[in-house]
Amino acid sequence: MPSLVLTLSPLVPVLRAFCNSTCRTFTVKRHSSSKRWQARQQNDRYTREATVQGLKSRAAFKLLQIDEKYRIFRSGQTVVDLGYAPGSWSQVAVDRTKPNGRVLGIDIIPAQPPKGVSTIQGNFLSAEVQRYVQDFLRDPRRGRPHEDGYIMPDRGPEDLSQHALDIKAGNSGANQESNSELRTVDVVLSDMMMNTSGVNFKDHAGSMDLCHAALQFGYNVLKTGGNFVCKFYQGAEDKELEKQLRELFRRVHRLKPESSRNESKEAYFIGLERRG
Ligand SMILES: C[S@@+](CC[C@H](N)C(=O)[O-])C[C@H]1O[C@@H](n2cnc3c(N)ncnc32)[C@H](O)[C@@H]1O
Repeated sequence: MPSLVLTLSPLVPVLRAFCNSTCRTFTVKRHSSSKRWQARQQNDRYTREATVQGLKSRAAFKLLQIDEKYRIFRSGQTVVDLGYAPGSWSQVAVDRTKPNGRVLGIDIIPAQPPKGVSTIQGNFLSAEVQRYVQDFLRDPRRGRPHEDGYIMPDRGPEDLSQHALDIKAGNSGANQESNSELRTVDVVLSDMMMNTSGVNFKDHAGSMDLCHAALQFGYNVLKTGGNFVCKFYQGAEDKELEKQLRELFRRVHRLKPESSRNESKEAYFIGLERRG
């Protein structure tokens, strides 16, 4: 390192003069934002607690708080977790529906399935992916645990990611099917969220598409009395979504769980007791 010091040394007065005019502000800013980030991580009791409890992310606490308040799970239920990765909601669902529940997770990105969870990789906005999910659910034994352990999907985690045929919610072939044979599900969860752009209207619109797809799916597969939880990015169109939820569920709540960061525009709709 001496050579570096020697090389730099003639420049020191120049750098010092430059820094006097510009670097100080720059240094202070970087320092304070990285300090804020560090503090947030260290002080985030949910992040710490998730690690302690072996949960895949702090998101688990949002679902735990929702369940604490509205009691959405019961033992033996079938649960579909849309946008499950990395898997903490599925972990909660497995725990809350044991010993005989079944949990199916769907996500567009590949992830290691949490223990006891069957998974399908694919874009949930694809009609083909939705049809595949509905086929999986049609057989109530598929993905259900045995006395000697869990039955996993017969071909391992399913990868339908190549089916990227995007559909608008309410327009898919899969959406046409709604009959009692398909209504095998007790709880539909959707924590789906695309990568946000920072442009409020765009992020809200993208989130509404995902919510409408989840709600249409809930309409197709939920049993009478079934429950629904859906993350949404707040904005002008969420009132219309709430109205549609009220048509399908006896009780509808809007919640911002304590563990959801204040600065985030996310909130949750909880639809309880699907009408007959
Ligand atoms: C906030 S994360 C979910 C966290 C999860 N609930 C947990 O507890 O670990 C949102 C997920 O939605 C997924 N997602 C977004 N758009 C999707 C789509 N069109 N189809 C399937 N998954 C999607 C993302 O890949 C991401 O993994």
